[in-house]
Amino acid sequence: MTGLIDTTRPAPVPQPTDKRAFPSDFLFGVATAAYQIEGAAHEDGRTDSIWDAFARVPGAVVDGHDGEVACDHYHRYESDVAMMADLGLQTYRFSTSWSRIRPDGGPVNPKGLDFYSRLVDSLLEKNIKPWLTLYHWDLPQALEEKGGWANRDTALRFAEYAVDVHAALGDRVQNFTTLNEPWCSSFLSYIGGEHAPGRQDTEAGLAAGHHLLLAHGLAVRELRALDPTLGLGITLNLTVADPVDPTDEGDVDAARRIDGQFNRFFLDPIFRGEYPADVLDDLAGLGLEKYIEPGDLDIISTPIDALGVNYYHGEALTVHPVELEMSTAAPSERPKRSPFPAPEGIYWKLRDLPLTAMNWEVQPEGLTRLLRRINDEYTGTAVKLYVTENGAAFDDVVAPDGAVHDAERAEFLRVHLSAIQDAIAEGVNVYGYFYWSLMDNYEWAWGYHKRFGIVRVDYETQQRTLKDSALEYQRIIANRAL
Ligand code: FCB
Repeated sequence: MTGLIDTTRPAPVPQPTDKRAFPSDFLFGVATAAYQIEGAAHEDGRTDSIWDAFARVPGAVVDGHDGEVACDHYHRYESDVAMMADLGLQTYRFSTSWSRIRPDGGPVNPKGLDFYSRLVDSLLEKNIKPWLTLYHWDLPQALEEKGGWANRDTALRFAEYAVDVHAALGDRVQNFTTLNEPWCSSFLSYIGGEHAPGRQDTEAGLAAGHHLLLAHGLAVRELRALDPTLGLGITLNLTVADPVDPTDEGDVDAARRIDGQFNRFFLDPIFRGEYPADVLDDLAGLGLEKYIEPGDLDIISTPIDALGVNYYHGEALTVHPVELEMSTAAPSERPKRSPFPAPEGIYWKLRDLPLTAMNWEVQPEGLTRLLRRINDEYTGTAVKLYVTENGAAFDDVVAPDGAVHDAERAEFLRVHLSAIQDAIAEGVNVYGYFYWSLMDNYEWAWGYHKRFGIVRVDYETQQRTLKDSALEYQRIIANRAL
């Protein structure tokens, strides 16, 4: 493992009362995304994104909820930032809305950029490091009408938009993430049909996956040329794919296939400049190759500084039909299908683990294994790891005094931070954690029904209430220890 561990990193400072301290350079933050919190969906020049359009499709989102008002963060960002400062947060991961900044994918809208400029100023005033994501799934609808991510041209438009954002904010923002979870914005959105634009077309999904990777690489090149000192990266949603029976060859192969179509389809082009051979075999005949042009993989593998890992749960895979299958699909009425391009004959077994309100298994040890694997196989000392999302929805209850005693969420937070400490203790280069999410918000096809926040939002009054989990996080941050 030589060369894989950063030996120049300061060791965690032991605390007199608690051995579980975090290194002094470890950042504590929270994450949100533009469409999920901003509202003001048609204000100051913003026009439709694919999520505005998709939310109008009957049955696409539970109860037809949309992001028109959401948490009204567009108007309340100052008090939201003050609340973050009270919690002691060191960094805030947010995304910019392409349709606010370049409505319809057209010329720059200065009013749209101004909002983010004000947001960044208020973060800096409170000493909170802005961690900016350029794309968290809200493609301008006008670009979808020209083919969306299945159209190569969208990748070029994305790089232009990245340059515009940098021109306005690059004097104050150091960390730029190109994309959030391209697996979702390609496979879940163009193959599974659960997310906007809701297509169900395997070839379009593979094209989208490739074009998103290309968009990432093009944007990294542009931004690097503008300022070599920026911290540039991408956020991937990664999983731990385990065979149900590790002695069963079929199960082992099922785990390999899902690891390939979830993790390695994205990791290998970025860090190795190639699609994995076994994944290309699994996808043979589905059309991916048509979209790969000479030089694309060189662009995609342009070096980055940071990899964001979003981790919620792992998967247990088998080729033998199971009694209880894990389903994470939203209960929206519109029919959907498997988001994986080649999932035939694979079953997801529900294990004997606690479940969140999303029916996601709580599996913190998976995070330790995942981080170690990414460090050892892909990032080493060259690229810093950040857990850019991790969190849980539970059916919160408001107590008569208005408090939310969300003990399960506080525990979820602790066990995952502890899993990160286990990885750090093994020498894995993890430098930060962003809880998903600062506040309850629009959970895509689930609408407002699922609450992930450490802060409760009353959608009638827009009142914010710190849940017990927020107070627990505040305590952990203040002590820099669990
Ligand atoms: C992730 C998304 C984020 C949020 C969480 C629960 O996949 O990036 O926007 O919806 O899931």
